Amino acid sequence: MDSAALLTSAKSALDTKGFLDLPVDPSLDLFEAIERLKQEKNAVILAHYYQDPDIQDIADHIGDSLGLSRKAAETDADIILFAGVHFMAETAKILNPTRKVLLPDLHAGCSLADSCPPDAFKTFLDQHPGHAVVSYINCTAEIKALSDVICTSSNAVHIVNSLPADQPIVFAPDKNLGRYVARESGRDLVLWDGSCMVHEIFSAEKIARLQHRHPEAALIAHPECEAVVLEQASFIGSTTALLNFVQEDGGSSYIVATETGILHQMQKAAPEKTFIPAPPDNTCACNDCPHMKRNTLEKIYLALEHEAPELEMEESLRVRAKAPMDRMLEWSVGIGR
Ligand code: 13P
Ligand code: SF4
Repeated sequence: MDSAALLTSAKSALDTKGFLDLPVDPSLDLFEAIERLKQEKNAVILAHYYQDPDIQDIADHIGDSLGLSRKAAETDADIILFAGVHFMAETAKILNPTRKVLLPDLHAGCSLADSCPPDAFKTFLDQHPGHAVVSYINCTAEIKALSDVICTSSNAVHIVNSLPADQPIVFAPDKNLGRYVARESGRDLVLWDGSCMVHEIFSAEKIARLQHRHPEAALIAHPECEAVVLEQASFIGSTTALLNFVQEDGGSSYIVATETGILHQMQKAAPEKTFIPAPPDNTCACNDCPHMKRNTLEKIYLALEHEAPELEMEESLRVRAKAPMDRMLEWSVGIGR
């Protein structure tokens, strides 16, 4: 097959596989090739902390959901390649629509976003008239469009506290983050029953046993974890907050209850400290997010080379989803940096 025919058949596979299934020369230096393509095409790579270390190392910006949203909104690059999951690439498109947004694998989804289907959510909102709707950024553009304001794990407490004290609030889709925000803000939130498969897998019992073996290690946790884990934690925060904490804290050892990708930046930032991934409640590597880990250097290279798969969005949906995103960015200036 010649290269044009190969590309045509790979593009038709996008619908089923979600990525360009083309052969990559095994002798190609992918780091060099990706760097060259970034320059040639004026492209920027935004990578979440949960990506593989190699992907974090080729990124122009690494961050949590809030930090990456800000970078996506302000970049003047022609192409934004999002090394993350679908809702993150959607967020980039919502905020910066004139850029071409590439997601190396369109099937990089999110169990939390999937746990909140728009039709069921509409019915839920109809059952709670008069409530303001605060949605965690880990949701689809359709859910964002049904919301009053978006939040991330960096600013969720601040966003909820920015609403009038007597305002009833629906919080979606993560019930664990919602419970944490309710506790921190003292507000009575109506919670959608969604959760993240990665953060729900940690075993409080195994963590307790690990702490017994490593009494010097502090447990630090992401607020998407279950309450039983958060109750044991010495520090709770977004991925950026966890990373900042281990650099500023006087301790030497940490049990980290979030996706394992963050350990790469922690080890780089504090090489003299020890980081132990919190154990899942079975023997699988389920504290690796299977959606985040769909991205590979090969897929990133192919996406930049062929400028596909591209994230596209219907304009009226984008405009409706943008208003609550803009509100979040306005309300949280200076937060989570
Ligand atoms: P943050 O990026 O806000 O820390 O959230 C983590 C997460 O689950 C992203 O999918
Ligand atoms: Fe979604 Fe959880 Fe993966 Fe984040 S870690 S992308 S919330 S499934």
